[in-house]
Amino acid sequence: MAKRFMTILFLLAMVNLSLTMDTNETVKLPAIYIFGDSIFDVGTNSFLPNSSSRADMQFYGIDSPFQKPTGRFSNGYNAADRIVNLLGYSESPPPFLYLIQNYTENFKTENIKGVNFASGGSGLLNDTGKRFNRVIPMVEQIQQFETVHGNISQNLNDPSESRIHQSLFLFSVGSNDILEFFDKFRKTNPDNATQEVQQFITTLMNQYQAHLQNLLNLGARKFGILSVPPVGCVPILRGTNSDGQCINELNVIAQFFYLALNGVLQDLNSEFPDMKYSLGNTFEIIYSMTDNPPFPILDVKSACCGNQTLKDGVPCSPDAKVCENRSHFLFWDQYHPSEFACTLAAHSLCNGENPYVSPINFSVLFQPS
Ligand SMILES: *[C@@H]1O[C@H](CO)[C@@H](O)[C@H](O)[C@H]1NC(C)=O
Ligand SMILES: *[C@@H]1O[C@H](CO)[C@@H](O)[C@H](O)[C@H]1NC(C)=O
Ligand SMILES: *[C@@H]1O[C@H](CO)[C@@H](O)[C@H](O)[C@H]1NC(C)=O
Ligand SMILES: *[C@@H]1O[C@H](CO)[C@@H](O)[C@H](O)[C@H]1NC(C)=O
Ligand SMILES: *[C@@H]1O[C@H](CO)[C@@H](O)[C@H](O)[C@H]1NC(C)=O
Ligand SMILES: *[C@@H]1O[C@H](CO)[C@@H](O)[C@H](O)[C@H]1NC(C)=O
Ligand SMILES: *[C@@H]1O[C@H](CO)[C@@H](O)[C@H](O)[C@H]1NC(C)=O
Ligand SMILES: *[C@@H]1O[C@H](CO)[C@@H](O)[C@H](O)[C@H]1NC(C)=O
Ligand SMILES: *[C@@H]1O[C@H](CO)[C@@H](O)[C@H](O)[C@H]1NC(C)=O
Repeated sequence: MAKRFMTILFLLAMVNLSLTMDTNETVKLPAIYIFGDSIFDVGTNSFLPNSSSRADMQFYGIDSPFQKPTGRFSNGYNAADRIVNLLGYSESPPPFLYLIQNYTENFKTENIKGVNFASGGSGLLNDTGKRFNRVIPMVEQIQQFETVHGNISQNLNDPSESRIHQSLFLFSVGSNDILEFFDKFRKTNPDNATQEVQQFITTLMNQYQAHLQNLLNLGARKFGILSVPPVGCVPILRGTNSDGQCINELNVIAQFFYLALNGVLQDLNSEFPDMKYSLGNTFEIIYSMTDNPPFPILDVKSACCGNQTLKDGVPCSPDAKVCENRSHFLFWDQYHPSEFACTLAAHSLCNGENPYVSPINFSVLFQPS
């Protein structure tokens, strides 16, 4: 009896806590800074008039609260939104390019909960995404954070680095670098293929290491990192295989990337013992959904927005055919997961365990330390 009473008290305390978080979450929760590509972009590229990597037209956002495009490469919310929701925020931090429209005022209030720098089509390398005319490469995303960092230090009365130490730095990057590399690689078909791939992974890791090191030098200590998904299984690439199978060579590169990144993080951690990180094995998370589709996903191969065929797949645009029930599809368009798939992936990252996320999950990482 006493035990049950305690449980009820505990539940009430939880309810109370979550209400407090809703009304003043900016004060209760550490900030979240988000970097990367279209998996995390919540509208950055809509502010780049010259970019051809964009999601601000029909039928993107068809399931969002106003059934309008939001710049997210999804039918509704994306992985950035779903992760921050599970960590206690009701809304995603806004894009940096949105905030600077109203620089001074916004930076006094908005940046407290975090900022999103992610740009669809971008990568670890400066040149990745050039084919879209304009994206924000990782180097520039980090520079934008430096500006924000300068503003935070000016505005908060907290001169210590404690708030930045508690903040979470989320990353999802690498897929576009690998896709562009593979495109060239497949055309030239080098006879020293293994060395070429190894050298490329080394180049990517040197860049990743440098980006993380820059943030560590600015006081960042908590990193939640998504590795590269099975890029060989996106609908547009399955469509290039006559049997609709995944492109295995690309998936092998994605798996190498994970192993190498795991090494980079371990090395950084021994250099900065107070650093904490979670590495999400996005490859395993998405591959397990492909292998064994969770209800109600029925189609793991084709794109919901884009004709629902592999051979005749088309980009998601106002001319494309959209499936009726988006939750039946793993993929929303030719490259990106549906909102439903993002929700499931975010659960694995925040509440899951090895092999989906290690050495700790995002919920444990985000707890104040
Ligand atoms: C939330 O916190 C801010 C900053 O401390 C404060 O100005 C505001 O009044 C608080 N709002 C509520 C609803 O408590
Ligand atoms: C867009 O591209 C044009 C032509 O290359 C260039 O003149 C212009 O400055 C670019 N605009 C932006 C906002 O980058
Ligand atoms: C933020 O930083 C920028 C660049 O350093 C500076 O121009 C601006 O005045 C700062 N704004 C505030 C509110 O501190
Ligand atoms: C800037 O932001 C403040 C606070 O959010 C708002 O009151 C103000 O109207 C905004 N100004 C512009 C020009 O958007
Ligand atoms: C990438 O661009 C930055 C600045 O735009 C530059 O400092 C850096 O050297 C470039 N990196 C490479 C590998 O070219
Ligand atoms: C692979 O061979 C090409 C052409 O011979 C050469 O340019 C390249 O450096 C080689 N790559 C590696 C990693 O050895
Ligand atoms: C859509 O797929 C059908 C076959 O299912 C094909 O006949 C049609 O041409 C495709 N539409 C486009 C726009 O490619
Ligand atoms: C989509 O399918 C699921 C499961 O089959 C069902 O529960 C849901 O109501 C459907 N949604 C719509 C909009 O038809
Ligand atoms: C997260 O990881 C911890 C430690 O590995 C584990 O005990 C827990 O079940 C996981 N899920 C949640 C929600 O914390």
